[in-house]
Amino acid sequence: MKDIVWGNILSVEIDEIDEDHRKLVNIFNILNHAVTEGESQDYIAAVLEELVNCTAWHFSHEERLMLKYGYEELEEHRAVHQGLIKNARQLQQKTLQADKPMVDEDIEYLERWLTEHILTDDMRLGSYLSQVM
Ligand SMILES: [Fe+2]
Ligand SMILES: [Fe+2]
Repeated sequence: MKDIVWGNILSVEIDEIDEDHRKLVNIFNILNHAVTEGESQDYIAAVLEELVNCTAWHFSHEERLMLKYGYEELEEHRAVHQGLIKNARQLQQKTLQADKPMVDEDIEYLERWLTEHILTDDMRLGSYLSQVM
């Protein structure tokens, strides 16, 4: 699986959100390498935990901005965040079972998990914030 390469296509044009997204992309890439290079299950679990925790923290950041700037789609966006965290926690549960190590499909799933939300909901949020911030 190729790394996610940060580029303008992923930018939502709000620096503080882009900064978070870059960090998440970076952790995703660390996880991708860990799986490819056959690192221990403990190490992979630790990176996945870091990715999910940082994502949860980042979602709180976006939700604070949505509140502060009166974003009308807040509830909808927040529900998407909650669903994404729930799905990632389920994947974590699965990988914590010793007989089910992370496979390429899991990494591909996480790649979509991370980028599709940025490219859709976060882009919409970014274009709103760039008008009001
Ligand atoms: Fe985001
Ligand atoms: Fe978001």
